[in-house]
Amino acid sequence: MSPAEPQPAEVPTRVNFRSALRRAFAAALEDLSATGVVIIDPADMPALLDQVREAADPKFGDYSGTMAMALAKRAGRKPRELAAEIALRLVSAPGYTTLFEPPGDPVGPGFINVRIRDDALAAAVRGAVADDRLGVAPVETPLTIVVDFSSPNVAKPMHVGHIRSTVLGDALARILRFRGHKVITDNHLGDWGTQFGMILWGWKHCRDDAAFDAEPTAELGRLYRLVRRVADSKPEELAADPEAAALVAKFPDAGREVLAETAKLHAGDPENRGLWEQFMPVCLADIERLYQRLGVSFDHQLGESFFQPMLAGVVEDLMAKGLARESRGAVGVFLDGDDAPPFLIRKADGAFLYATTDLATIQWRRAQWEPDRILYVVDHRQSRHFDQLFETVRRWGIGSVDLFHVAFGTVLGDDGRPFKTRAGDTVGLEALLDEGVERAAAVVAATGRDGMDEATQKRVAETVGIGAIKYADLSQNRTTDYVFSFDKMLELKGNTAAYMQYAVARVEGICTKGCVDRDAVRAKAAAVSIAAPQERALALGIVRFSEVLEDVEADNRPNLLTAWLYDLAGRFSVFYDALPVLKAEGEAAASRLALCDLTGRVLRHGLGLLGIGTVERM
Ligand code: ARG
Repeated sequence: MSPAEPQPAEVPTRVNFRSALRRAFAAALEDLSATGVVIIDPADMPALLDQVREAADPKFGDYSGTMAMALAKRAGRKPRELAAEIALRLVSAPGYTTLFEPPGDPVGPGFINVRIRDDALAAAVRGAVADDRLGVAPVETPLTIVVDFSSPNVAKPMHVGHIRSTVLGDALARILRFRGHKVITDNHLGDWGTQFGMILWGWKHCRDDAAFDAEPTAELGRLYRLVRRVADSKPEELAADPEAAALVAKFPDAGREVLAETAKLHAGDPENRGLWEQFMPVCLADIERLYQRLGVSFDHQLGESFFQPMLAGVVEDLMAKGLARESRGAVGVFLDGDDAPPFLIRKADGAFLYATTDLATIQWRRAQWEPDRILYVVDHRQSRHFDQLFETVRRWGIGSVDLFHVAFGTVLGDDGRPFKTRAGDTVGLEALLDEGVERAAAVVAATGRDGMDEATQKRVAETVGIGAIKYADLSQNRTTDYVFSFDKMLELKGNTAAYMQYAVARVEGICTKGCVDRDAVRAKAAAVSIAAPQERALALGIVRFSEVLEDVEADNRPNLLTAWLYDLAGRFSVFYDALPVLKAEGEAAASRLALCDLTGRVLRHGLGLLGIGTVERM
């Protein structure tokens, strides 16, 4: 092996090129302001620096800064002229020339295009090859972040929307943790709600003991659905539902009795409390099975019931501080004046609400964990609740914490309506996972079964099936609704988990095929050099990992990570189709193998951050 060119001393091993460039732009803009070309308020700086981004067209460079347009007007200059002033100062910004080529003349309406120096790019890749963190530096200021996610209402059948919260929340928690934050995950179970009134009433009037013994949660689910029909159905619905209609005839007051059962539970009635304690473990075991299969776990599982002893105190405190007051027997926080409906925290019958529990939970989390930020990964239909909750907390003044509702849209069926079974029921989650895995098994059998023993096939199908469901969800813009389709999510081409898992197996298969010792490849990081354009494009994709994770955090959008992974897999294909790797000659062989190995590791790690597993072969 010929001696590799020495790593430029100034290139840090974990370099985030975009951050470095933004710092250089910051220095240039400060100088622009100091020299009176255009006065820039420091408060405007973050938004201006945000305009340093990946270049829209790689032909022009790797990044472009487009802030000259906005500033030119203020300066009374032509955008291109002002861009030239910025570009001039960029070159003398500290650290700029080590990492970047001098910018060319601004183009178009004042774009400043910047290209990473090839030697700096190679140095960054060498750093990543030798690094467990793959070149991604941890954040400078780690925060304590609570992620409140999944949080199903127990004893009610879980539906596909719960997968969304679970998968999104888990991915965000993993990503934030990898970024270096202290992350606390908490499953805020709905274990105290009115569904228990229905189940308690059902238990007392129509339970099937044998069924409960055989499959406790199925029986509780049946009681819940049945009693809901009894308590909530309109006459025309009852006409088509003889079972519920018979119960309504027998118990005309069922609706009121159901509410009374909940109230008794909340008031500490020993019988109801005893039943609740009997039901909870079976409900939890059921949910736990699902989490295990999804590979999701929580640091804490503090359900609504945990906060019950604190609710009266919350209401008192808010009243004492003059933030909440009584109105027609109920207590509410009047956020939008006296005439608008308040944020209710106690009903006229004395019952506390979902809102009261959330307030107590925030107060408790503040005291116990001192978080800087709390993320609530919850359906967008609860937006109003969270707006009101956050505003109440702000006025309450229990300390500063950044509260954020990570809202998501609805999962739709082929018909464009919320995803349901043919019979109109919500789809049981377990059955959904089973179907995904079963279909994945068929895909695996069709592609790479040869030589795979049965146990391996099963494991691969589970990883591919669960991965497909997760990826389909995570690759969507979280705020939009999306159509759930097994066929689409298991396609081997396109932005799917199966394609990504296949790409990892392919990349890593190259190393296996060449009987390459991957540890040895990593030890020879110095061998990496970047010559061909396809190598450069691949390297550039890889070093953007840290930028992408930063963007995911900024907007809580894991789909930015899936998009980048997909793009990276594409860059790898182009590279591998164009250039020999195992058959490469001399220096190029070691360098390209190192690039392959690194790409495999980065793809695998990226999928891992989404909670998606990989397989050696597909
Ligand atoms: N249990 C609620 C539901 O299923 C979601 C709870 C979300 N978390 C929270 N702190 N409010 O709708």
